[in-house]
Amino acid sequence: MIVSSKNLLQKARKGGYAVGQFNTVNLETTLAILKTAEKLKSPVIIATSENEVGYSAPQTIVALVSAIAKNSKIPVAIHLDHGSNFNLIKECILAGYTSIHIDTSAKPFFQNALAVKKVVALCRPKGIQVEAELGQIPTPVRNQKVARQLYFTNSQEAADFVAKTGTDSLAISVGTAHGAYKGKTKIDFELLGEIGKKVKIPLVLHGGSLVPDAQIKKAVKLGISKVNVNTELRQAFTGAVRKELEAKPQEIVPYKILPAGITAVSKIVEGKIKLFGSQNKA
Ligand code: G3H
Ligand code: ZN
Repeated sequence: MIVSSKNLLQKARKGGYAVGQFNTVNLETTLAILKTAEKLKSPVIIATSENEVGYSAPQTIVALVSAIAKNSKIPVAIHLDHGSNFNLIKECILAGYTSIHIDTSAKPFFQNALAVKKVVALCRPKGIQVEAELGQIPTPVRNQKVARQLYFTNSQEAADFVAKTGTDSLAISVGTAHGAYKGKTKIDFELLGEIGKKVKIPLVLHGGSLVPDAQIKKAVKLGISKVNVNTELRQAFTGAVRKELEAKPQEIVPYKILPAGITAVSKIVEGKIKLFGSQNKA
C-alpha cells in the first residue's frame, strides 16, 4: 500500500522507533527492501536520490514500487532523497512520489527556508510529506570541531526553521556522514538531545550506514524517527554479485546471477529494520 510518509513518521516519533529509508536503483534492490519489510511487518520508505532517479525516471520508480507493493498490506512511501532541482521535484510529485526531501541546506538560513516553503506549498495540498535539512551532512570529516562549526545543525535555529517553513520532518547534522567511511562515527548526543527537546516533528538521521548499533539505538531514543541507509545496500549488492560472477564465469543468465544481490541486500535491510524498532509496526 503506497502512502505518504507523514503519518508513518509521526507515528514513529510518538512510538519511539524509526522507519528505515532504503535507497534503490533497480528491480533487485527494490524487491529485497519490500519483501523484507513485508516479512517483518514494517513500514518502509523506498528512496531515490536525484542521480538514482535519473538512472531511469520518476514514473518508472513509481510503477516498479507500486507493482511490487500492490498486494502488500505494509505502508510504503516513495521518497525523493536530497532533491535540489525544482523541476525534478515537480516531476516526482506528478509521477506519484509521496515524500520529498528538499535539500537546499548549503544555502544560508533564509534562502534555505524560502526554498522549503515553496516545496511545502506544492506538497501540502496533495498530502505529500516534506523533509527539510538544516545543517549539512558531510562526507567524512576527521576533525569533529571543524565538522561541528561547518556542518552541524544549530539547535537554536532548528525550531525557528521548522516554524518558518512548515516542514513535516527535519534532517539534522549531528555527526554522521555520507558514504563508505571507515572512521569511527561519533554522534553528538548532547546536540541531538537539545534538538529533540526543541523540535517535536520527526527528526531524520542521514548517513545511517556503518554507524555502530548502540549509537543508532540511542539516537532513536532521542527523537530520530527515520534513518537513511544507502551505502551498506550498495556494498552488499555489488559485493555479492561480484562474487557470484567470479564463482560462475561461464554464467550469462542475469536471473541466475542477480538473486545473490537480492539475498545480500535483504540481510542488511532485515538487520536495520530490527535495529530501528519498526518490526511489527505496520
Ligand atoms: O540520504 C541518504 C543517506 O543519507 C545515505 O547514507 O551513505 O550512510 O548510506 P549512507
Ligand atoms: Zn543523505
